Amino acid sequence: MKLTVELKDTQYDIIIERGVLSRISDYVNLNRKVLVITDDGVPKEYLQTVLSQCKEGYSQVVMQGEGAKSFPVYEQLCRVLLNNNFTRKDLVIALGGGVIGDLSGFVASTYMRGIDFVNIPTTTLSQIDSSVGGKVAINLDHVKNIIGCFYQPKMVFVDSDTLNTLPNRHYVNGLVEAIKSGLIYDKDLFELFERENIKEHIDEIIFHSLSAKKDVVEKDEKEENLRKILNFGHTIGHAIESINIDSMLHGECVAIGMLPMIEDEALKQRVINVYQKLGLKQTVAYDKQQVIDLIHKDKKAYGSKITIIKVKELGKADLEDINANDLFAYL
Ligand SMILES: NC(=O)c1ccc[n+]([C@@H]2O[C@H](COP(=O)([O-])OP(=O)(O)OC[C@H]3O[C@@H](n4cnc5c(N)ncnc54)[C@H](O)[C@@H]3O)[C@@H](O)[C@H]2O)c1
Ligand SMILES: [Zn+2]
Repeated sequence: MKLTVELKDTQYDIIIERGVLSRISDYVNLNRKVLVITDDGVPKEYLQTVLSQCKEGYSQVVMQGEGAKSFPVYEQLCRVLLNNNFTRKDLVIALGGGVIGDLSGFVASTYMRGIDFVNIPTTTLSQIDSSVGGKVAINLDHVKNIIGCFYQPKMVFVDSDTLNTLPNRHYVNGLVEAIKSGLIYDKDLFELFERENIKEHIDEIIFHSLSAKKDVVEKDEKEENLRKILNFGHTIGHAIESINIDSMLHGECVAIGMLPMIEDEALKQRVINVYQKLGLKQTVAYDKQQVIDLIHKDKKAYGSKITIIKVKELGKADLEDINANDLFAYL
């Protein structure tokens, strides 16, 4: 399956195909210098599979985890490009989850003011969500994604066979973004979760999720309005995530953050049933005032007003401006 993302200044293809990892060279010119960036949690065979297709391949394996999205690691990677005389005609490939995609994309976007970037996401989160949209970033002083930009890849390759090695907790974590896309944009996608065996239908789930994100991103490339609906569940979710940074994953927090924004009780119960099917928590203990304070700090808050996203009807999202303090009622 192929999706083409069409943006104002550029376009790129997303190839969704089992086994495509060993066929990257059919699509991308690998007869140049290529730096493949990955982390030590991604199975080594995947790196070998990609490197074996490169004429002059280099690799960097960074430490797994959010800590890799940092200035020291960013600098180290830029140095590898510089010391090996990479030019603007050469290529950076991200091979890993959202951490590797964000980090490698940021390296590619800034080295010589931008060199070619290809993304090969290997987690559900990155295959379903983060590899499309062009947001790349690193963190500074525990503030996530504060240093970054928009930078589009030349191509994205989604090989769901790579998910066979992904630990179940990460597998489920990434699916939350697909449940979100279903709720805000694509009724059929949500119903897949209710009806089907998820692992057997993962390619369909990925395709539906990426199509939804592609539509939204094409209509609103730089996050002005429509794209805000992608933040469904994220206002409260992000706050819960910062409080539980060492114990909870992004999707697990977004799952909890979405529920209060669904007012229809019958729909909410359907979502809870899906969570139960996947083993996701519906709630976690937190200090309401701390959550409100964190939301005030979050970039989505301007003045005392914030935009929240609600789902009143399956497959449709509504934006609503409220006073940040009124969020108490949703907690
Ligand atoms: N750019 C965006 O639009 C966007 C959107 C959402 C999230 N993000 C970012 O994505 C990051 C989270 O991404 P993630 O959830 O993919 O986490 P991750 O990149 O940390 O990967 C999770 C873990 O899985 C391991 N792993 C990756 N692929 C594997 C495979 N195929 N088999 C076995 N293990 C594998 C990794 O080593 C890591 O330990 C965060 O930094 C977040 O800010 C970015
Ligand atoms: Zn998210």
